[in-house]
Amino acid sequence: MSAGMEASAPVLSITDATKLFGAVVALDGVTLDVWAGEVLALLGDNGAGKSTLVKCISGVHRLDRGVVSIDGLPVQITSPTQARDHGIETVYQDLALFDNLDPTANFFAGREIARPTWLPQGLRWLDQSRMRTQARDLLDRLQVRLPDFDADVALMSGGQRQAVAVARAVAFSSKLVILDEPTAALGLRESAKVLDLVRRLRADGVAVILISHSMDHVMAVADRAVVLRRGRKIGEAPATPAHESQLVSWIVGAQSGAPI
Ligand SMILES: Nc1ncnc2c1ncn2[C@@H]1O[C@H](COP(=O)(O)OP(=O)(O)OP(=O)(O)O)[C@@H](O)[C@H]1O
Ligand SMILES: [Mg+2]
Repeated sequence: MSAGMEASAPVLSITDATKLFGAVVALDGVTLDVWAGEVLALLGDNGAGKSTLVKCISGVHRLDRGVVSIDGLPVQITSPTQARDHGIETVYQDLALFDNLDPTANFFAGREIARPTWLPQGLRWLDQSRMRTQARDLLDRLQVRLPDFDADVALMSGGQRQAVAVARAVAFSSKLVILDEPTAALGLRESAKVLDLVRRLRADGVAVILISHSMDHVMAVADRAVVLRRGRKIGEAPATPAHESQLVSWIVGAQSGAPI
């Protein structure tokens, strides 16, 4: 390697990821890389292990075997907070928003802005109005419109909740954004906005893992696709029209590729 060149490593590497739930083998020796500025689609039928892999990366579950590396260095991510500290933001398929909180509180959950530390403990209340302005600003910038900005998230539609979750992940992303079915509850227009956000992340050099059952969405934004089947990685191909039928046959198992 010539002087001045830096060794580059994938933003995220998963090696031999294995996860059991009792007798169910949810992940079985999965290995994959994601690079900065790349959108990797994670495909597979229901129950293939996609969400489990996401949860193992983002600290919700622990792998039974395997290594997760960030920027080439092995890490132990044991909680969602730790994943965030590593620059990983996740939108979970089951939408981890707090129902009893409004969008501002959801935005800043776990990273609340406190008043200066020289104030006595009891007076260090959270800076509500600053957080509200920032959250509003972020949602506006992302063109997410909510009928009542101060209503609890429980009163929002599935699509509005999904939009808040995606906006939050995008707003705080630094290295890797994982989107598990981000458009499942969205209409055409809203889905198109989410796909725009994904493109913007890629342009900013963020790595994205996108899980979607919509081949159209995958073809629209992904660079590469990895296919899981029954917990195993059975194929990997560029996300281009030329490879679409190959990807589909891997997903449905029409072609039983050897696990790779
Ligand atoms: N917390 C859990 N406890 C027990 N089994 C689980 C748990 N989470 C997932 N599983 C099982 O692990 C397997 C993989 O599930 P996972 O949710 O990862 O699939 P998926 O690929 O995300 O599917 P979908 O497309 O339906 O979201 C399934 O057999 C599922 O029943
Ligand atoms: Mg899932």
